Amino acid sequence: MSKTAVLLFILLSATAVTVPAAESEATVKARVDKLLSQMTLDEKIGQLAQVGGLAFLPDAPKPEEAIRKGQAGSILWVSDAARINKLQKMAMEETRLKIPLIFGLDVIHGYRTIFPMPLAMAASWDMGMIERVQAVAAREARASGISWTFAPMVDIARDPRWGRLVEGAGEDPYLGAAVARAQVRGFQGTDVSSPDRMLACAKHFAGYGAADGGRDYDSAYIPEEQMWNVYLPPFQAAREAGVATFMAAYMDLNDVPATGNRFLLQDVLRKAWKFDGFVVSDAFSVRDLTTHGFARDAKDAAFRAFTAGVNMDMASGVYQAHLAALVKEGKVPTATIDAAVRPILAAKFRLGLFEHPYVDEARAQRMVGAAEHRKAAREAAQRSAVLLRNEGGALPLAKDPAKTIAVIGPLGDAKRDLLTMWSGFDLDPSKTVTIVEGIRGKGARVEFAQGVQIAKTYSSMFDQMVGGPQPKAWTPEQADAEFRKAVELANRADVVVLAMGELALMSAELASQSSLEFPGRQRELMEAVAATSNPVVLVMLNGRPLNLVWASRHIPAILEVWHPGTEGGNAVADLLFGDANPGGKLPVSWPRDAGQIPIYYAHNLTHQPETAAGFQSRYWDQPSKPLYPFGHGLSYSKFAVSNLRLAAEAVKLGGTLEVMADVENTSSRDGDEVVQLYIHQKAGKASRPVRQLKGFERVALKAGEKKTVWFTLGKAELSYWSGQDRAWIEETESFDLWVGTDSDARLHAGFRVVP
Ligand code: BGC
Repeated sequence: MSKTAVLLFILLSATAVTVPAAESEATVKARVDKLLSQMTLDEKIGQLAQVGGLAFLPDAPKPEEAIRKGQAGSILWVSDAARINKLQKMAMEETRLKIPLIFGLDVIHGYRTIFPMPLAMAASWDMGMIERVQAVAAREARASGISWTFAPMVDIARDPRWGRLVEGAGEDPYLGAAVARAQVRGFQGTDVSSPDRMLACAKHFAGYGAADGGRDYDSAYIPEEQMWNVYLPPFQAAREAGVATFMAAYMDLNDVPATGNRFLLQDVLRKAWKFDGFVVSDAFSVRDLTTHGFARDAKDAAFRAFTAGVNMDMASGVYQAHLAALVKEGKVPTATIDAAVRPILAAKFRLGLFEHPYVDEARAQRMVGAAEHRKAAREAAQRSAVLLRNEGGALPLAKDPAKTIAVIGPLGDAKRDLLTMWSGFDLDPSKTVTIVEGIRGKGARVEFAQGVQIAKTYSSMFDQMVGGPQPKAWTPEQADAEFRKAVELANRADVVVLAMGELALMSAELASQSSLEFPGRQRELMEAVAATSNPVVLVMLNGRPLNLVWASRHIPAILEVWHPGTEGGNAVADLLFGDANPGGKLPVSWPRDAGQIPIYYAHNLTHQPETAAGFQSRYWDQPSKPLYPFGHGLSYSKFAVSNLRLAAEAVKLGGTLEVMADVENTSSRDGDEVVQLYIHQKAGKASRPVRQLKGFERVALKAGEKKTVWFTLGKAELSYWSGQDRAWIEETESFDLWVGTDSDARLHAGFRVVP
């Protein structure tokens, strides 16, 4: 089929479904009121229960049973259209009020067509692309009956040992907020009743990324100032973009579990942000309030989570078991049950589920993995890649069919590891294009040697569930033979592409690591291959920064492609041969090793910064700077940023300041540069970070082309949360401003905020 035909086909398939007209809010309210007035207490409590389609716990309710008894408002972990229709039919035909179910799933970077992992998409700094891609994810998932995604995950993370870094947008609240908005727009569009859109869920509210030691689920201690200035902004951005739901996090925040945390769920979410959607717990997190040593028993857990503001209990069955008794005992007023049910029913009306509870299974089949979706995945992977190093223009490679390219490393021909754990419990990785396949697709002569095996030291529950069959571990003799084979191949080839990093299951949930070293014997193999006289390129597939200190001195080109998704191999080949030009930028500071953690660019100067003479705050056994700064990323093109100008030297409190700079592609190759703006408030009621990102734009520039980039600084950019005032404040102070291409940007100006 031609490209146009495919597009037409998709459009027609989309319009073949009758699109219900978006309900007006007044109609939604009237319908909710009417339905609620007909519901018994048990039916209401049923709406507050989300039941798992996979049985993680032996005593977990079975979805069929729960649905028939009216004890399920939503189902999760079911992804197949036929099963969804079957379960929905039970709700629609076997229950008294015929209230449809919402099916929820973690469609965090694609449903069947898998896009690069979310951190990688943040590395594109391309908000338009992120929105488009999540719209494709929504289209595929909704076609299969999933109308609610547990995404975007907007947790700020400054510790790469934490496995869930991979799911978010990295260390920075400004970039994180922009990515959160783009994702919400992509998933929800302007009308969630459309057959191509779904409800989004901002998670994990809040502070999950600050887990002690980067250990998943561990406690987070976050002072109020950091909470408001760093961890909450992406959630607030999601809220402002109209996100339909929030998910409460697992861990203790300042000694109070997020699932029972009234500060988060009441003071911030409902009072300060006036959120009127609904909150779901994380899986089993209501029941687990007892595990924390917070709730006395399951009934107390139901009471604490519910009264804190969690509308829906994900999978733990605790609301179902105890809420009715709590109402009868007068501990929970019926009015609060009604208030909790309302936004859930409203969401079902807005989704159009009462009119269109079922999906067309044939359409779902056609929709998933459509050619246009794969095209979007390829583009997303190209745009997410970050060229960390390119000495002497080692990349791009010349296309020369006479030359042999050796692909070496454990990820060179891997399929599953181009995806992440969240790519689905029932995913078929066979559709994934490997790096070897991608390079071969360019007509190149490719030979592959795995060289080393990598494995997790301890395997988690998820490894068994989503990892698929594990390869048999090599004997020590086999391992040596494979290692030698790889080095021999490197010697024989004309160019070596090392494909190294981490297995997909080394990051995401239950996948924290204490070390940032390359797992297994990869570093040893890297050294052996680099010792050959052939040009070597390192392609990194990983969910977190790894120790690249040695490689950054000895391997001329390093291309970070993360876990790049279904079309990863094709995108990598495009990038290696210059059919695509890398333009991504790091959404995290890249530490030298784990000893530097936490390291983030927006730190305070504090007493005796490293820039001062004499006493200095630093480690004395290695440089204090990260190996690569936040915002870093090279291109095959060359760019110059110049002519920084401010519309004024002073801006009135509450006013806006225009900032402009020119960016020029000084090379003969088309490419993209991300122009970044940072500020520093020089004095005030609080010490402010040395730099804070407050503007960016990814600009496409033809060879030799020059453009002007405009930024606007206003109240939002110039204010911060003051712990002393317990409020957002903007102060009449002096500021530094820099514009450039990473967080070390040099082009400088100053301005003042005046009364
Ligand atoms: C995760 C959530 C996820 C939920 C449902 C939990 O274990 O923490 O991020 O949305 O499961 O799959």
